[in-house]
Amino acid sequence: MRWKYGIYTVCAAGAAVVSAQKTPFQYVDPLIGTVNGGHVFPGATLPFGMAKACPDTDADENQGGFSSDNSSIIGFSHMHDSGTGGARSLGNFPIFAQAGCPNGDINACNYTSWERATPRINGTVHAKPGYFDITIASGVRAEMTTTNRTALYRFTFPEAPLTPNTTLSPLISLELQDLPNTRTNASININGQSGRLTAGGSFSPSFGIGRYSSFVCVDFKGATIKDAGVFSNSRATTKVKSLKAITETERYAERPAGGFVQFEKPTSNNQILVRVGLSFLSETQACRNAEREQADFDFDGTVAAAEKVWTEKFDVIKIVAGGASEVIQTAFWSGVYRSMISPQDYTGENPLWNSNEPYYDSYYCIWDSFRSIHPLITLLDPHSQTLMVRSLLDIYKHEGFLPDCRMSFCKGFTQGGSNADIVIVDSYMKNITHGIDWNLAYEAVVTDAEVEPPNWDIEGRGGLEAWKTLGYIPTENLDLQGVGTETRSISRTVEYAYNDFVIATLALALGHTADYNKYLRRSGNFYNMFKADQNSTINGTDTGFTGFLQPRYMNGTWGLQDPIFCSPLLDFTGCYLNPSGRETYEGPVWLYTFFAPGDMKTLIKTLGGADTFVKRLDFFHDSGMAYIGDEQAFLKVFLYHYAGRPAKSAERAHFYIPSQFNDTINGIPGNDDSGAMGSFEALTMMGIFPNAGQDVYFITPPFFESVSITNGQTGKTATIKNVNFDPSNKNIYIQSATLNGKAYTKNWLQHSFFLEGGTLELTLGAAESAWGTRPEDVPPSLSAFGNGTTEERRWEMPQVPQLDIGSW
Ligand SMILES: *[C@@H]1O[C@H](CO)[C@@H](O)[C@H](O)[C@H]1NC(C)=O
Ligand SMILES: *[C@@H]1O[C@H](CO)[C@@H](O)[C@H](O)[C@H]1NC(C)=O
Ligand SMILES: *[C@@H]1O[C@H](CO)[C@@H](O)[C@H](O)[C@H]1NC(C)=O
Ligand SMILES: *[C@@H]1O[C@H](CO)[C@@H](O)[C@H](O)[C@H]1NC(C)=O
Ligand SMILES: *[C@@H]1O[C@H](CO)[C@@H](O)[C@H](O)[C@H]1NC(C)=O
Ligand SMILES: *[C@@H]1O[C@H](CO)[C@@H](O)[C@H](O)[C@H]1NC(C)=O
Ligand SMILES: *[C@@H]1O[C@H](CO)[C@@H](O)[C@H](O)[C@H]1NC(C)=O
Ligand SMILES: *[C@@H]1O[C@H](CO)[C@@H](O)[C@H](O)[C@H]1NC(C)=O
Ligand SMILES: *[C@@H]1O[C@H](CO)[C@@H](O)[C@H](O)[C@H]1NC(C)=O
Ligand SMILES: *[C@@H]1O[C@H](CO)[C@@H](O)[C@H](O)[C@H]1NC(C)=O
Ligand SMILES: *[C@@H]1O[C@H](CO)[C@@H](O)[C@H](O)[C@H]1NC(C)=O
Repeated sequence: MRWKYGIYTVCAAGAAVVSAQKTPFQYVDPLIGTVNGGHVFPGATLPFGMAKACPDTDADENQGGFSSDNSSIIGFSHMHDSGTGGARSLGNFPIFAQAGCPNGDINACNYTSWERATPRINGTVHAKPGYFDITIASGVRAEMTTTNRTALYRFTFPEAPLTPNTTLSPLISLELQDLPNTRTNASININGQSGRLTAGGSFSPSFGIGRYSSFVCVDFKGATIKDAGVFSNSRATTKVKSLKAITETERYAERPAGGFVQFEKPTSNNQILVRVGLSFLSETQACRNAEREQADFDFDGTVAAAEKVWTEKFDVIKIVAGGASEVIQTAFWSGVYRSMISPQDYTGENPLWNSNEPYYDSYYCIWDSFRSIHPLITLLDPHSQTLMVRSLLDIYKHEGFLPDCRMSFCKGFTQGGSNADIVIVDSYMKNITHGIDWNLAYEAVVTDAEVEPPNWDIEGRGGLEAWKTLGYIPTENLDLQGVGTETRSISRTVEYAYNDFVIATLALALGHTADYNKYLRRSGNFYNMFKADQNSTINGTDTGFTGFLQPRYMNGTWGLQDPIFCSPLLDFTGCYLNPSGRETYEGPVWLYTFFAPGDMKTLIKTLGGADTFVKRLDFFHDSGMAYIGDEQAFLKVFLYHYAGRPAKSAERAHFYIPSQFNDTINGIPGNDDSGAMGSFEALTMMGIFPNAGQDVYFITPPFFESVSITNGQTGKTATIKNVNFDPSNKNIYIQSATLNGKAYTKNWLQHSFFLEGGTLELTLGAAESAWGTRPEDVPPSLSAFGNGTTEERRWEMPQVPQLDIGSW
């Protein structure tokens, strides 16, 4: 997803310190991607944790809460989404700390977000997984850490407050608001003796429909309570200790209101600890979460526990750097880190239905995450991926459809196909099976393929009648079954086609032979929008390539969309998800014409054979048309494999990394979308980018001397080793390979390598070789060119691994 394209220029995040002894944990820089449209959440969180604490800024680009620019800090809030392209997300109930109110007058303190806005002090930001630290111009230092559902803040106040006539008597406020200002029906209660503050309210999701409720329970430690009260707009009182039903309608959603507690001078180190328990169920549950997870207000212990949990996550990967640069190592570990902050585990917090199944949220969005985030989680943390798949199926069971996007218990917007199908089938192919009801899973994906929902902007697919009868999504479609944004006919067609392809492979594995044939046939619908004589010119000059996807009306006649339209070369912003969008989504026809991941062999043949295909792919990357900051571009780096040119995929990997993925605060080229950019760089640097939905990893040389991954299901370790590794990246060409000592000529791997363990040894050289170039070396495809007729197609995919339901 890309909704905002950054305008910031390069700005280094501090020179990397060279040290041979740095741990993976120490390599992580959470601040990467906090300017330039990355929208990364850089604050404190546990893996897939609900609590995500960070300072919130008043920058335009504060989707993830914080931004590494000169913007001011308006508060500290406890839940966020990372890397979103849409609106700001969550950020409910921000707290703010002031050292005292001038002249002891509570009305001289600041309450509204614009009054609170305080610049940061340069150089005071320190972030590491599970911890964030900043000092603002008032001299107040704010440190934060988290358990799964509780944020813990440690505020350190200046001995002498900087405001005139102020003695140290800290005031900590909480506003009944979220980052996008959507609050309604909020309430707050403050206990004047204990200081305990509980609050709740109703809010809007940031890229979806509906409302959700959120609750907090706040306790303090470190100072005697002086008084407490509430505020409305910029006026405060200590006479009232609760507010009810603040702004019943959204019309007044932005009106400031909240409560505060004021303290005597803190008892030690001028510090006050603030514990914020979180819940989506109730204030009581928020207090319970806080008491259970953070009984002792143990700040340093919590930071240490977070380090331990993150270190365990990173421990499944072992890198022998072999001289790989600090930039590469920092980008790599930070990418791995960002791939594991979402989706969030909200199990036990679901107000919508009762279930014993896990509940994960912030699949934000699956259009972005199916390509590399979920495959990476599958590889590094199969247990979590299993829980996520079960959670998706439980959502299907209770909502009637799988989500394509979901956040804050609300249905999010669908960008293209029903891509949860791909997440599910990818998991099936990779032995993510424990506790998964595959009959339910099959029912869920078939529902996507067969049943059009009344509103297909938020689930399922639109135009299914045309899909089944005409075999494509027409422009200006007559759709009597449901409503949705009638754009993206081309990109929806190619995505639906691939969704049907993966459904076919699951049908085959589960023994539904008739369905297998049906969905395989429908996966060929790609070609119903392929106009074989379509050319593409740039400013009047023919690019020399013929044959592109084009819009098509119900009567079969062709429309026209310039194949470069919606690329950086022509009207880059013309294809967003709105009614004025066009027939492709966030990218040009050029890009979508490459999207036939289940049958690249047919596509290559259609586009004129391997040599022409390689030239076309080169042109796409070199002409300025490719934008690697949006997820649909990722696979295009590796499609050379299908044309028997794995060396060119390796070249492209280095073409984009580190020039577009690096260790600076602006070090990713687009919205991270819950870790999509991070997972792309991590998988690419490990040399095993996946073709999501299939049991296929493209082999390219890792960016390190060797990479080992220990599988969480079998405990086996798989190692990919570069012989003649050269950190200056001249030897990026595989000359020969061995798998467990035997010659290996295929240019792709299957997941069984990671399940069974072993060693893939790649011998590198400075020039492209014959390795992996023969037709029998390339990844599997449907073989015959057949315009979608089953008879002409022969199934060439390898058998799925023996599924073995073990225990965790
Ligand atoms: C911060 O502000 C300074 C001075 O106004 C300006 O030179 C600098 O470019 C700004 N930095 C960012 C990241 O906006
Ligand atoms: C309140 O905000 C103003 C700026 O808006 C600032 O000058 C003042 O110091 C703040 N007061 C306190 C008590 O922090
Ligand atoms: C912070 O430092 C940056 C450069 O690192 C500078 O551009 C900016 O002006 C500084 N901001 C303040 C508020 O001093
Ligand atoms: C935090 O949540 C994870 C799952 O998301 C779970 O494995 C872990 O045990 C939880 N930690 C604690 C301390 O409850
Ligand atoms: C500080 O306090 C003194 C004495 O109460 C008062 O005269 C003065 O106006 C105050 N100054 C400010 C800036 O509030
Ligand atoms: C707020 O609460 C009132 C009264 O319960 C209800 O009528 C209204 O729909 C609620 N508004 C929202 C936006 O939740
Ligand atoms: C497309 O280009 C080819 C080759 O340059 C040319 O033969 C053909 O006439 C062109 N087609 C159209 C519709 O312009
Ligand atoms: C097909 O439909 C399109 C769009 O309604 C229309 O412009 C075109 O003239 C039609 N072509 C034929 C042959 O009917
Ligand atoms: C096409 O021509 C226009 C006008 O000369 C120019 O601004 C634009 O950059 C050109 N585009 C490309 C892709 O060359
Ligand atoms: C780092 O990546 C960003 C985002 O893609 C890019 O703009 C910048 O030029 C890169 N910086 C370096 C030093 O390569
Ligand atoms: C599949 O995963 C299970 C654990 O869920 C494990 O016991 C089994 O060995 C794995 N199967 C294969 C083929 O590796």
